[in-house]
Amino acid sequence: MPKTDMPVKESDAKVEKALGAQMVEAPTHNERMPNPEELLLNIEDAPKITDKLNIFPFDWRVETPRLMEIYENSRDPGWSPSQLPWDTLDVESMTLDQRYAISYWWALLSVFDASGPAVFARAMIHAYEVHEEDAIRKCFFAVTRDEMNHEEVCGKAINKLTPNGPLGYEPQTELGRLARNNIEWLYHNGARYWSGYKKAVEHYPMPILFTSFLFGEVAASTLFHSMYESTDIPVFKEAFRNIGRDEGRHLSFCLALLKEVLPKMSDEDKDTITKQFRAGFIFLSGVLFEPPEEFWQLPPTFLPVQRLLEEQARSAGFGILSLEKRKENWRTAVVRLKTIVEPYGVKFPALPEIGIDGETVAFDADKIVPIF
Ligand SMILES: [Fe+2]
Ligand SMILES: [Fe+2]
Repeated sequence: MPKTDMPVKESDAKVEKALGAQMVEAPTHNERMPNPEELLLNIEDAPKITDKLNIFPFDWRVETPRLMEIYENSRDPGWSPSQLPWDTLDVESMTLDQRYAISYWWALLSVFDASGPAVFARAMIHAYEVHEEDAIRKCFFAVTRDEMNHEEVCGKAINKLTPNGPLGYEPQTELGRLARNNIEWLYHNGARYWSGYKKAVEHYPMPILFTSFLFGEVAASTLFHSMYESTDIPVFKEAFRNIGRDEGRHLSFCLALLKEVLPKMSDEDKDTITKQFRAGFIFLSGVLFEPPEEFWQLPPTFLPVQRLLEEQARSAGFGILSLEKRKENWRTAVVRLKTIVEPYGVKFPALPEIGIDGETVAFDADKIVPIF
């Protein structure tokens, strides 16, 4: 190691001197720093955002703190479709028709519950576009995530019972082929719902959308509660319990917001809600009861086939309620909804199908909003 007090050789000193003479200043020296005041005098206005429906969250305001609380509680739904006890599902012990029948019911449910992710994601985007409070944006996000779990259960159940189902397999029995035809008709109607919904979501103000979603959530929590109670197949029982709890939370979201907005709503908006309830009832009856002709375009074989399939599913321990019980159940759910909204001066439509008196309103297929 060279010692520090060693004399520098004469040749080294020469080289250093030569290099020093060639040195170029690095370009980091400004004459002076930019002056904020001066910059401020020269700013140009950014082009105005003329598109009213832009998505930028200009603020994170919370007008309904209760929504934020429910959102916080929903961060961990406490279950996951892949963790359900699928290995306990003994498909081999079921007849082919029992498998087709249970798979059919999940395909029917899919029209309502597996549309959930897209329906609520659309509502969430719309909430961004119209600059709703942060709590509403967040609650649509939470519902979208939950609905993705429900959709996953539909897919798993269908594929366990009928691999590549609901449509990508060849049924081996007559009832299986009839079931497939029914499913194709169901999806035809599901597609009609979606084209109506896309328009509706942009057309109605948030409070009206929320009352419609409320109907869907009342229907869903009622349905899953009854399916949980009457199903003996462990994995499905467990699924219904969890999905039902999620739907109950969605119901709380709707109630929390409506408690704030219903008292301020105009009479015109309240009349719209009455019409919306009639439309929602017709659509949701497709799974809660039986599909009314006013919306549902179905062939004459549809209902008899569905009844045969329900019978098969019940024989395997899958708890589809009898038609009479379904009617009773649906009526209880609707009365529950009626009790929530009537104190705010919202008139309820007549639903003669399940023996509910009320206002006579026209049905409009483009006004259907609710989903699970
Ligand atoms: Fe829901
Ligand atoms: Fe759902």
